[in-house]
Amino acid sequence: MSTQPAALIIGASRGLGLALAEEYLSRGWHVVATTRRPSESLNDLEKRFGACLEIEQVDVVDLDAVQALHRRQQGRILDVLFVNAGICKANALTPLQVSEKDYLDMLLTNALSPMRVIEIFHDNVKHNGVLAVMSSELGSITQSTGFWELYSSSKAALNMLMKSFHARHAHDSRALLLVAPGWVRTDMGTQSASLEVSESIPLVVDVVARNAGKPGLRFTDRHGAELPW
Ligand SMILES: NC(=O)c1ccc[n+]([C@@H]2O[C@H](COP(=O)([O-])OP(=O)(O)OC[C@H]3O[C@@H](n4cnc5c(N)ncnc54)[C@H](OP(=O)(O)O)[C@@H]3O)[C@@H](O)[C@H]2O)c1
Repeated sequence: MSTQPAALIIGASRGLGLALAEEYLSRGWHVVATTRRPSESLNDLEKRFGACLEIEQVDVVDLDAVQALHRRQQGRILDVLFVNAGICKANALTPLQVSEKDYLDMLLTNALSPMRVIEIFHDNVKHNGVLAVMSSELGSITQSTGFWELYSSSKAALNMLMKSFHARHAHDSRALLLVAPGWVRTDMGTQSASLEVSESIPLVVDVVARNAGKPGLRFTDRHGAELPW
């Protein structure tokens, strides 16, 4: 039996998800990484890391596709499940200005769909493993300044759903993490962000590692400091 630890990363075509895949591979893990459409960057990782990387295609909002992925991965035992996929639409708009479609897309992609992945793949994660979702500092209601209010509300909704999942699995031995990676230079974070990807993702992976074997739900930043809800 292989002793190589395994991670499933949902939404790994670019940005933070791609960097998560690369970081786990560099640390010797087996990685199943998903994209919505073929990703040249992931294909490049496959050339570097060979069979340690499996690429799967799934749109996280397509429940049938997520269930099909689960069937294809039947029997897979994971040390880490990391749901990273997310979108930011209409970040500068207010509730009166945003199109209903854009707002619903954000809720669906950032809150409901990640939680469906958690529900569906929960049992694939080892009892001392970690289920993590990429949240955001902006998902904290306590700390909100009103910045990117619509996007922030989708991450607050994600946090609430994760808290409810935890309440339904109160005696589960796995760790549940909502991770805030900092403001990072990606397509979403923009070039104005304060951190390079390399200043965030290795720390995020360290935080996940430190939480293995520690049951309970935590809303944490990349350093492991708990954030106010
Ligand atoms: N960058 C930041 O400063 C920052 C801060 C806090 C939290 N976050 C969170 O971190 C995560 C990654 O953000 P990022 O900065 O790397 O953004 P990004 O560069 O825009 O990348 C977003 C990723 O999510 C994937 N994705 C979006 N919708 C999807 C769907 N329906 N199904 C599957 N995959 C989907 C994208 O895939 P495609 O290539 O197919 O579009 C892409 O891989 C998000 O959850 C974001 O909210 C980012």
